[in-house]
Amino acid sequence: MRLTAPAVLHALPARGRGIKPVAPILGDTEVGRAEVPNTVIVTREPPIAVIQLNRPDVLNALNEEVLADLVKALGELDDDDTVRCIVLTGSERAFAAGADIKENFIGATPVSMLEQDLTQRWEAIRRIKTPLIAAVSGYALGGGCELAMTCDIIVASETAKFGQPEINLGIIPGAGGTQRLTRAVGKWVANEIILTGRFVSAQEAKAIGLVAQVYPAATWLDDAKALARTIAEKPPIAARLATEAIDLAWNSTLDAGLEFERRSFYLLFATEDKKEGVDAFVNKRKPVFKGK
Ligand code: CAA
Repeated sequence: MRLTAPAVLHALPARGRGIKPVAPILGDTEVGRAEVPNTVIVTREPPIAVIQLNRPDVLNALNEEVLADLVKALGELDDDDTVRCIVLTGSERAFAAGADIKENFIGATPVSMLEQDLTQRWEAIRRIKTPLIAAVSGYALGGGCELAMTCDIIVASETAKFGQPEINLGIIPGAGGTQRLTRAVGKWVANEIILTGRFVSAQEAKAIGLVAQVYPAATWLDDAKALARTIAEKPPIAARLATEAIDLAWNSTLDAGLEFERRSFYLLFATEDKKEGVDAFVNKRKPVFKGK
């Protein structure tokens, strides 16, 4: 779906409890286009797009509304062939400080939690086919850390602080933290992080394999967007199959993953992009991939 509102929406009032206009961390460019003036702000800069979580008063705590808006925005970008890589980010102070404790947890019961069926939203985020980069500055805690781990790549400002502090609320991570963090960093480190609820610095997150790159605080978002542009130049069908295969490495047996990889590899020989890539190599020119 194409969206046409101009990128001046930082100035528009945001909808929802106590929400102020977004802190203007995203540069409005000539080519940038934005929409959804509420809990998420979308800026299109083809061939990439940036989604910024926008609940600054509560450090981008994830309530029902922001998750619904996020799923909608991601779905629209995923359907747009001109968008080849998406950056998901927050503010300088917080990527997201977790589930909205005050809105979601006071008075919650097992039945009300069951009826919310959060799984559907997290599954929808997980199923996005366009490569998705989490660009984390400040806090990525609880559901915020889990949201980052749902993305294909995590990059961080040197200010980033990751953590799963649910234990301090008398609960445990509920959106994949015990599973994804453990697969990323191993049982012994995951237990130490989850049982203490401590914060993990950007540098430590990189050292333990949670974060791909740590960028300077002054340039983190530009650096994340540059990474997105690099990925956006790659053949999109190959990129999609690569991320699906890598997900299977987490989620299946080695044999099943190898089988998926083998079939995907063969399938890619039917694409125009494969012809383009090989021809460009042979003729010593830069390839131009069309996603066909
Ligand atoms: N939910 C609701 N509101 C939150 C919030 C959250 N997760 N995190 C921060 N806020 C609110 C604060 O209540 C505060 O609002 P008021 O100004 O109205 O009091 C505002 O954001 C700013 O926060 P602080 O004043 O606390 O800022 P700080 O710099 O002193 O501390 C912080 C920052 C360390 C991130 C601290 O806010 C904090 O510990 N937040 C909670 C983190 C957390 O426990 N996350 C896990 C949630 S559970 C979960 O996510 C379950 C799951 O698996 C899905």
